[in-house]
Amino acid sequence: MTRHFITTQDWSYDELGAILDHAAELKADPLQPLLAGKTIALVFFNPSLRTRTSFEVGAWQMGGHAVVLEPGKAAWPIEFEVGTVMDDVAEEHVREAARVLSRYCDLIAVRCFPKFQDWSVDRQDTVIRAFAQHADVPVVNMETISHPCQELAHLMALREHFGTCDLKGKKYVLTWTYHPKPLNTAVANSAAMIATKAGMDVTLLCPDERYRLDERYMDYAASNAAESGGSFAVSHDIDAAYSGADVVYAKSWGALPFFGKWEEEKPIRDANKHFIVDERKMGLTNNAAFSHCLPARRNIKATDAVMDSPNSLIIEEAENRLHVQKALMAALAGSGG
Ligand code: CP
Repeated sequence: MTRHFITTQDWSYDELGAILDHAAELKADPLQPLLAGKTIALVFFNPSLRTRTSFEVGAWQMGGHAVVLEPGKAAWPIEFEVGTVMDDVAEEHVREAARVLSRYCDLIAVRCFPKFQDWSVDRQDTVIRAFAQHADVPVVNMETISHPCQELAHLMALREHFGTCDLKGKKYVLTWTYHPKPLNTAVANSAAMIATKAGMDVTLLCPDERYRLDERYMDYAASNAAESGGSFAVSHDIDAAYSGADVVYAKSWGALPFFGKWEEEKPIRDANKHFIVDERKMGLTNNAAFSHCLPARRNIKATDAVMDSPNSLIIEEAENRLHVQKALMAALAGSGG
């Protein structure tokens, strides 16, 4: 059966650890021909700086070739509905697109964000699930409703920062922050999953219960914590959450009860600008590492001082996207996979 990388919940912590071990080797010795003669399709329905660059460069560094496709721009728009009469803009169905790409490529990676209209629809992750259903090669999630490649890069950065693979017992705060627009919950879902898988004591800090993550991811975090010996809790108390923290991970997301009704959420969002990560809050921590997946608006999500502090892992985490994705591509499509 084809192994996909759509969510880390399908992978054991030991399997993810093996990818990180290989990523560390590739970081020390980047040019290895593990993808010689292999091709990777990168299908982007949304913009990117880090993901596109790191996958393209990573494939090249391993002797492979990446093809970037943007359906609806320089590639045909794709239909995903089953059994539909295709009389709208889509020129081909995912049933053909995924199978044809499988004839050319050894791996298909997909980025497709929610449409932000109906969470009950977006939470089904239809686009990447359809690619996985119809492709004959592994499918990798480049961010849909979770962001598993970011999880690997984040975990690698934390292991490097603390100088150990054992993060059990670290106090980890995943804090919501203000942003002028409602953003995807993907990275927050992912942070909750990977931090609990690693056995950390995780606090989801957010303005109120309306900013809880989807219950699927709350359940994953709780079950991961039970398995790893960590913990998972929700807090709306900023100072209590930051107190003694070892890691502060910042992300903004739109409140799920307001999905598609974002004007109603705006006053609540605007009233919580004080969730910004700043020096006072970081001063309550145990000299915590700070990170963010990027892109991040400075002095909106975190102050300049926090972004540029010695404990900021933002650039290291972004760099690690390259190394972890190389290890992932090698595992799924490489000659030694
Ligand atoms: N963190 C991340 O995925 O960055 P991009 O959106 O720039 O790819």
